[in-house]
Amino acid sequence: MKAVILVGGEGTRLRPLTFSIPKAMVPIANRPFLAHMIDYLKAHGIDDVVLAMGYLPDPIQSHFGDGGSFDVRLTYIIEDSPLGTAGAVKNVAEHIDGTFFVFNGDTFTDIDLTKMLELHRNKHSKVTIALTPVEDPTVYGVVETDNGGRVQRFVEKPSRNAVTTNMVNAGAYVIEPEVLDLIPQGEYFMFEHGVFPELLNRGDAIYGYKSDDYWIDIGTPQKYLKVNHDLLLGKASGSIAGELIGERIWVGRGSEIHPQAILEGPVVIGRNCVVGSDSRVKGPTAIGPGCIVGMDSSIEGAVIWNGIRIGTRVSLKECIIAEDVTIGDGSQIMEGCVLGHDVMVQDGARLAPGTEVWPTADQ
Ligand code: GDD
Ligand code: MG
Repeated sequence: MKAVILVGGEGTRLRPLTFSIPKAMVPIANRPFLAHMIDYLKAHGIDDVVLAMGYLPDPIQSHFGDGGSFDVRLTYIIEDSPLGTAGAVKNVAEHIDGTFFVFNGDTFTDIDLTKMLELHRNKHSKVTIALTPVEDPTVYGVVETDNGGRVQRFVEKPSRNAVTTNMVNAGAYVIEPEVLDLIPQGEYFMFEHGVFPELLNRGDAIYGYKSDDYWIDIGTPQKYLKVNHDLLLGKASGSIAGELIGERIWVGRGSEIHPQAILEGPVVIGRNCVVGSDSRVKGPTAIGPGCIVGMDSSIEGAVIWNGIRIGTRVSLKECIIAEDVTIGDGSQIMEGCVLGHDVMVQDGARLAPGTEVWPTADQ
């Protein structure tokens, strides 16, 4: 079965994390988001994937290559300028030869794609949209269905008073190839504003596949932190790299944890890290490869990427730190802080909750 994954967005709501890598490559418990997604697709028999790319394609291509080492066939198509969700799929039409899946490349989920495809076939649907319940539908595509699951209305990001249901588009579709005829070639075009409303106007069958399974859009720092926590806590499923050395504590090869350091799971520590004496790492926390944690520091609920140098007596709490950041001795980084790549935090600095530090332009 073939799938197209949309990974061309700029990830603006995840800035400063997406200045150096695209949203599809942000690590979830130390593995790129897309690696988790490919595992999930393979589990449902999808092993031929076209990646519709635009913004920062190189990190994706150099990590995954032709997909061989991930047991999947990958084809990369790069847009010259963003074509929108549907325009991007039209742009890869030559690689599609039957019923196919399309995925937004930023949702982490356990939704049962096998059952979804079954429903699509049973209903002879043109498009089947996975639906998930959310608390605030105004930031998603709201999908109204009748009692038989047939879609009546699709409204992208409605105002609060136009919300009629909490079921939204989960960003996974099964599509019949003739739907591609509705999408203009080489133009910016959206499923959400163009294709779905047009199919409904014509009276074509769109069905919703409702699911209560785990689902999150990783596109904001708060949700990105949450999906890391959920995976570490076992609330979301996905594999975690490293040797299991204690109750939900994984440590990568070549890492040195001082005997007087305390790790309280769930914690994942990547390869070649050093955690100094009297430091305490409390889960759910992910520390990427090549990080150094100085003595007497405390890390709790944080997501730390690769190559980060943390001084002594540092306190990090529920924050996100992108690659190659240096954090000076005695500094304090509080809940909800987000630090972009290569940022340097001075000794003794105190970053108030929610502070974002962007890298300087020439970094
Ligand atoms: N190739 C390509 N080209 N990909 C794109 C483009 C483009 O021009 N624009 C966006 N994408 C990709 C993004 O990288 C992302 O993976 C996906 O399409 C969705 O874009 P977002 O910008 O994250 O959209 P959203 O989260 O606001 O809304 C969408 O997802 C919701 C579920 O998370 C919509 O599909 C909503 O209806 C849906 O509820
Ligand atoms: Mg999104």
